[in-house]
Amino acid sequence: MEQTLKGKHIVLGITGGIAAYKSAYLLRLLIKAGAEVQVVITPNGKEFITPATLAALSGKPVVSEFFAANTGEWHSHVDLGLWSDLMVIAPATASTIGKMVSGVADNMLVTTYLSAKSHVMVAPAMDLDMWAHPSTQRNIATLMADGVEIIQPGSGELASHLTGKGRMEEPEEILRRVEAFFKKKESLSGKHVVVTAGPTYENIDPVRFIGNYSSGKMGFAIAEEAAARGARVTLIAGPVALQTSHPAIERIDVRSAREMLHQAENAFADCDIAILSAAVADYAPAECADSKIKREKTDGMTLQLVKNPDIAATLGKEKGSRILVGFALETDHEMENAARKLINKNLDMIVVNSLQNPLAGFNKDTNQVTLIKADNTSKAFPAKTKREVAADILDEIEKLK
Ligand code: CTP
Repeated sequence: MEQTLKGKHIVLGITGGIAAYKSAYLLRLLIKAGAEVQVVITPNGKEFITPATLAALSGKPVVSEFFAANTGEWHSHVDLGLWSDLMVIAPATASTIGKMVSGVADNMLVTTYLSAKSHVMVAPAMDLDMWAHPSTQRNIATLMADGVEIIQPGSGELASHLTGKGRMEEPEEILRRVEAFFKKKESLSGKHVVVTAGPTYENIDPVRFIGNYSSGKMGFAIAEEAAARGARVTLIAGPVALQTSHPAIERIDVRSAREMLHQAENAFADCDIAILSAAVADYAPAECADSKIKREKTDGMTLQLVKNPDIAATLGKEKGSRILVGFALETDHEMENAARKLINKNLDMIVVNSLQNPLAGFNKDTNQVTLIKADNTSKAFPAKTKREVAADILDEIEKLK
């Protein structure tokens, strides 16, 4: 068998479902492909498959308890979380999924999940009614929004003898997803990607500003996805309430459009790809008052605004061989307007956010986009999580390289 996973560190989490018997086969496939695998099993998981089998297949003692039974030695979930290049939880029961969502770290598996810096894949397995329950579906949606990859269960005969959706995906298919993850992980290695995200705030006085509703979620998802593919990322963020998690992301916080332009031009110099998802304010007050403007002074007021620099168009003029991608949020004639922006700003691709779809837009965890390329071809995608949309955008950018 080809050593597609040579040198990769995989944490295989096993929970208490009948499909746990398939995990032994999955483990064998991962080992045969060259991976080093550490099994972490929940107390209920051990009722379905013995740690002795898993230890023999992986060549490592199985981790299950916080403390070793004979020596009392503490197992460090933090070390395991850092060691892991990928965590795969297969099968994942409804209970473990619920614990992952709310951070109930009462066993080694969920504790390791909370400490894991790596990507996480979850292959659910449960009865069809449990799978279809709104509680499970809500939890799955939350995990996806948290960046966890769900390997959807298949349909077929279940352990309960009922037929429907809930069967854990076959080990061969899970192996394929694991291989695809590591292949994708290197697809942007050696590349420098610049991302602008969030709104800009244009000061009126020391306590007031002109801003907009952009949350920055789309740009942050792109930064995380690009870093997960091996890129060095410079994320230039307007004022947002978000955190980054990947160590390859250098975050530069800015406030105004002018500050964003300055940082974007600096980072652009040696970048390969720039993705401009920020909702940059088009105008700023001509002057920012030094002290708070008082209400008594006037019955009404007119704010004099001046045009902000267009970051995308400025970079478009110095583009060279770099790939430049912009966003467009339109209320009318969205495709025509977006295509015009693509030409005017010298972009290679523009991402059109649909304001018509209630699953798209400001402060949502989902988005629905159409991508238009400079050769005037376009591709429409269904509504997805912002992380999945980020993956679609980067897949298309990789085709442009
Ligand atoms: N953009 C930018 N700098 C600006 C305005 C926009 O870099 N001052 C970028 C955005 O990040 C986005 C693209 O240009 O990638 C389109 O932004 P949008 O606000 O939709 O377009 P505008 O050019 O501002 O046009 P309008 O507001 O008239 O629709």
